[in-house]
This record gives sequence, structure tokens and C-alpha cells, in this order.
Amino acid sequence: MFGLRKNNGSSNKPIVTEEAVLAALSRIQDPDLRRDIVALGFIKDLVIDGGKVSFKVELTTPACPVKGEMERQSREFVGAIPGVEHVDVHMTAQVRSMGATGGILPGVRNVIAIASGKGGVGKSTVSANLAVALAMTGARVGLLDADIYGPSIPGLLGMSGKPAVKPMPSGDQMFEPPVAHGVKVMSLGFLLDDPSQPVIWRGPMVGSGISQLLSQSDWGELDYLLVDLPPGTGDATLTLAQRIPLSGVVIVSQPQRVSLDIAIKALKAFQSLKVRILGVLENMSTFVCDDCGKEHHIFSHGGARLAAEQLEVPFLGNIPLSLDICEASDAGTPLVSLKPDSAQAQSFMRIAEGVAAQVSIASLRQRTTIPLRAV
Ligand SMILES: Nc1ncnc2c1ncn2[C@@H]1O[C@H](COP(=O)(O)OP(=O)(O)O)[C@@H](O)[C@H]1O
Ligand SMILES: [Mg+2]
Repeated sequence: MFGLRKNNGSSNKPIVTEEAVLAALSRIQDPDLRRDIVALGFIKDLVIDGGKVSFKVELTTPACPVKGEMERQSREFVGAIPGVEHVDVHMTAQVRSMGATGGILPGVRNVIAIASGKGGVGKSTVSANLAVALAMTGARVGLLDADIYGPSIPGLLGMSGKPAVKPMPSGDQMFEPPVAHGVKVMSLGFLLDDPSQPVIWRGPMVGSGISQLLSQSDWGELDYLLVDLPPGTGDATLTLAQRIPLSGVVIVSQPQRVSLDIAIKALKAFQSLKVRILGVLENMSTFVCDDCGKEHHIFSHGGARLAAEQLEVPFLGNIPLSLDICEASDAGTPLVSLKPDSAQAQSFMRIAEGVAAQVSIASLRQRTTIPLRAV
């Protein structure tokens, strides 16, 4: 039995061994990565001092929904080893990089694009809420508004004014992305003299303009940089998706058949460019009536989940059609920040966790030969 070795016969106290602690911890599974936390290399700085055991559990994202449960299990399982009197667990996270951003964005671990088949499906609303939701978990998050045709992120996050320009040691000048709700933000909307005027950029200009905005901003260290892409799969969007080193793309759809069909086309276009699909979500999925509390399916419902299953890509969840979401956006405070405990905010939180989990799965797959199944 682990942990029952005697100490030279001088004491009857069982000696706690590293093997015993690791054996206990290996009973804990990461539900997304589907392996135990010892095999995944999550246990760091294990110190055994008599009956006192301390260690860190280093997850691959702070947006882990079972963080609390893992901490509880760690305490319980290690605490049950004979001889253990005190367990000190410290939960941390180290977001892994997909390794692609190095040259252009040295401090950015993962760039995640948010795309849609068509405009008006809530792509910017979703981008803003997901960015703030990830930041609320403790992740370092940036948001690039790449929808040059309708740069709406500054409005959604209640931002105005121009970003500061700072000289770099190299002699170059860089924008300093302003921070709102814990998220570093850059948008062409900040730079236009009159944001109400349309921007007339043709395909290649969009690509180079946005790449410039991306690379000439001092993002610092980021775990996730979300990019609100222009709608559709026009030249501009696809050029952009190829220029930016992406960890993957999240597709936003609405439940109506026509919206779904266009979303599926967009998804396939990204797949043909070898951009990883992190998942599909359905926005304005159902309407919950404030008065009667009943769920109404204003449009059809559940199509995105079905399509995701058929296309074998992850389904990330549904966001309801909600006046609160719309009003919060209009007021410049995303709902996850304004009413974090509301059901609508929680649906954004679950999707943010799902996106983070897919990035973790993908980066782990990249560095392991053991196959990991997507959720
Ligand atoms: N789940 C939702 N419930 C209610 N209104 C929403 C929801 N998602 C988006 N909206 C509203 O729909 C409109 C379009 O959303 P937006 O995020 O600008 O779409 P896109 O970026 O795809 O063009 C906005 O007025 C926004 O507030
Ligand atoms: Mg938009």
C-alpha cells in the first residue's frame, strides 16, 4: 500500500511518498482533455514535509469550469493518504500557445477569430461578451475589431477617444490598446476622424490595414486575442484569416435555415483554408418571456447543434434572444459584466469556457501522440 513505509523503525508514523501523492492525484481526470492530471503534467512544485503536502495544479486555462471540483478532489484524495496531516493546493493556469503567433505577435499565445456567414447575427456582441467573460476568469485577453465595415466594438464596450501612441526601444511607434472591462482593445473605430463615415477599403487593403493594426499594437502578454472578423467569407475576410496566425475560428449562427446555410458555407470556407474550427454557437436561439417566463422559439431552434454534429465540429452552446443583452450592448457594458449571474451571462460564460477548452485540446493534440477526442 502506498505511503505505509515506516521511518527506520524510529517512528510509527507512515512516511508520505511522492509516489503515493501522485497515485492519489492521478485519480483526477480533466474532463475536456480526458486524461488524468498527473499524466497531463499539471502537478508542479510538489513538496512533502513530514505530514504536510503542498503542490500546484497548473491547468491549461483559467477558464476551467471544474477548477473548484479539482481542488476539492485534490485535497480529499491526498488528505486520505495515511500520514498526511495537511494539504496545501494552489490552483494556477498556464495557457499553452498553439505556437503559430511567434513572429508577428510575440507575446500572444492564441489568436481566436469570431466569424459569421452574414452580418447582423450578433458576431460583435458575442466577441465582446466572450472577451470579457474570459478576462473575468483571470485570463489575459485582447480584442481586435477587424470588422472595418462596421467597427462596433468601441461602442459595445463603452469606449471613445484615441489610443496612445508610444515609442518602442526599436525606434518604432506602437499603439497602446486601451483597456475596457479587463480587455485590451484595438479598433479602426478609434483611428477614424469620423467613425460614422463608411470606410472604403478593397480586399487587399483590408488585409494589410488590419494586419498593421494588429502588429503595430503593443498587446504585451496575452493568453487569448479575439478577432471580430468582417461578416461573410469575402476576399477581405479570408485574406485576413490567412494573414493572422489563428489558433482557430468560432462560427456564430442564427437558428433560421437561411442563416445556418450561410454559416455552414463560411465554416467550410475556413476549413478549406486549414483554419481550425473551434466550434459553432447559435445566437438569438430562443426567447424567454420576461412576463410569463416561457421559452419561445421565435425562429426555428437547434439547427446549429445539428449542423455541428453532422460536420463533426464542436457545438459551443446557445445564446438566447434577450432584451437585456441588447440593452447592455447599447449602453456600452456587455451583459457578462453588467449582470454576471443572469442566465444570459452564464450562457456566454459556458461558451467562453468551451472555446478555452477547445484551444487547450488543440494545443495538447499538437504536442502529444496520444489521440485526444474533441468534446
Ligand atoms: N442574443 C441577443 N439578444 C438580443 N439582441 C442581440 C443578441 N445578439 C445581438 N443582438 C443585437 O443584434 C444587433 C446586431 O448584433 P451585432 O453584434 O452588431 O451583429 P454583427 O456583429 O453580427 O453584425 C445589435 O443590435 C445587438 O445588440
Ligand atoms: Mg459586427
